[in-house]
Amino acid sequence: MSLETVPVEKMSFEEMVRLVGGPANIQRVLAPRGEIVIALRDPALANVLPSHMRLREVLGEWQLSFLIQQDSINEYADELINSLGRMIDSQLRLNAYAYSSPNDCPFRPTWHISPPQGLLNDPNGFIYHQGKYHLFYQWYPYGCEHKDKYWVQLASTDLIHWQWQGIALTPSDWYDSHGVFSGHALSHNDELMLFYTGNVRLGEQRLRQTTQCLAVSQDGLRFEKCGPVIRNLPTGVTEHIRDPKIVRHRGKWLMLLGAQTTQLQGRLAIYHSHDLKEWHFDGLFGEEIAPLGYMWECPDMFEIASQSYFVFGPQGIISDNVNHTVVHQNRIAKVLWDENDHPHFCHLQPLDHGFDFYAPQTMQTADGRRVLCAWMGLPDEVNHPSCDNGWLHQLTALRELSVENDQLIQRPIRELEQLCHQPVSLELSDKCTILNTKSFEMCITLPWGASLRLFEKDEQYVELSLDAQQKVLRFDRSHTLIRQGDVIRELALECEQVELQILADNSSLEVFINGGKAVMSARVFTEQEATGVSLLNALVTAKYSPIQPVSASSFATQF
Ligand code: FRU
Repeated sequence: MSLETVPVEKMSFEEMVRLVGGPANIQRVLAPRGEIVIALRDPALANVLPSHMRLREVLGEWQLSFLIQQDSINEYADELINSLGRMIDSQLRLNAYAYSSPNDCPFRPTWHISPPQGLLNDPNGFIYHQGKYHLFYQWYPYGCEHKDKYWVQLASTDLIHWQWQGIALTPSDWYDSHGVFSGHALSHNDELMLFYTGNVRLGEQRLRQTTQCLAVSQDGLRFEKCGPVIRNLPTGVTEHIRDPKIVRHRGKWLMLLGAQTTQLQGRLAIYHSHDLKEWHFDGLFGEEIAPLGYMWECPDMFEIASQSYFVFGPQGIISDNVNHTVVHQNRIAKVLWDENDHPHFCHLQPLDHGFDFYAPQTMQTADGRRVLCAWMGLPDEVNHPSCDNGWLHQLTALRELSVENDQLIQRPIRELEQLCHQPVSLELSDKCTILNTKSFEMCITLPWGASLRLFEKDEQYVELSLDAQQKVLRFDRSHTLIRQGDVIRELALECEQVELQILADNSSLEVFINGGKAVMSARVFTEQEATGVSLLNALVTAKYSPIQPVSASSFATQF
């Protein structure tokens, strides 16, 4: 069917909404060059269209096109398209409301953040603002799949108890119709500013259109979208440029973006600004560590003890360990600024050596600590047992970053102690001890050759073993209900014995190794009754504390 158009100036907003079958029938609005396109939920609900107007089906979506006069959006069209955006926003919030109460599920974490329903991915906008911590996340409410993303907002005064604040941003507008993608927040002059990537897909080819956008809140709760602050691509990059992080650097603002060059290599793109509105492209950085994958996502930059660090997610990395097939990885590098104020990266290392860790974000606490939160999941993992109960993925525990003897150290945030019961000593042997909970902290020092089994019942367990020959800590989740993803991770260690601090929460384990010199995070699904722990080839006393549940308040409706 060929696409025909009608001049938009001939139609009032009310007329247009009536024509397309009312507010609830509008799925999204798009603005390819010279047109406004309205996607309809049900084409049959559209009123009789003028004879010269036709609907066309684009990849299963019914789209109605209106011509606009200039190439760029004119004033009338601008108003119209913004009004449509506000209408779609209300509708999307209404539709998503039913998905913001939690589905019951035995795999649900009790003290980590998980989505009530649907899919969670990256943490976003992690910030301290006017006496409160704010943490947002990427959310697709309607299923365990990566579709048009929303931002959910949580707030906390203690970094432990997170209160559901509702949906902060919906994919309602022509510049973010296919996802309010990841970004960071800035607390600036009484305002809470959210910088994010607007993701749009156009036409049969699903051509990607990327802009960097701003939304602002005066009360820290309701956000007003200001639209794109960067509309065009800088030279040398593809439409894969996203995940803005704003940092203050030597008297100006920098916007860091993960980017892909036209040669299909990952790089860091940097813009600068003096007013946070007008942005100027400075260049692409990271050549000295390239090639390192086809795309870098989710950049972050911060200082610890006067040393600048760069965190990013290189994609397309092939590991030299046969068990490690995941190409979406994470790295932290030291940053050296040259005389032209350009960053150079060195001393790369993974932030996490486990299975499920991606897209981390950091923020500075009121008392000056650098705290990190990441997605405990991976882009290609979409089938975990929790999907049977309509939700997928969770965030990691918050970690404090520090540097000791020039070495990066990650420890669970100290606030977590509030949730831990008084520790008890637990003598572990090859006889399975039943804990009757899967939410706990366990601290244990193991000799080489020992194997610790957790979340155990009969043939189900997760094993952390210290291979004395190969000198690796092996994390094995092959005896679990895992449906997708690698089952073994190995970490080479050089030490006499290995100190582990393990955080467990129903379907996750985070293992902090040798005082936080390395971390391994994983989703691990075993039956609800699999609460046993045993130790093979050693007799050791562990320090064990059950962890109190808290996460219920991070959903719209409490359990
Ligand atoms: C990382 C990522 C980001 C993007 C977001 C979309 O997981 O791919 O680059 O902004 O997820 O949900």
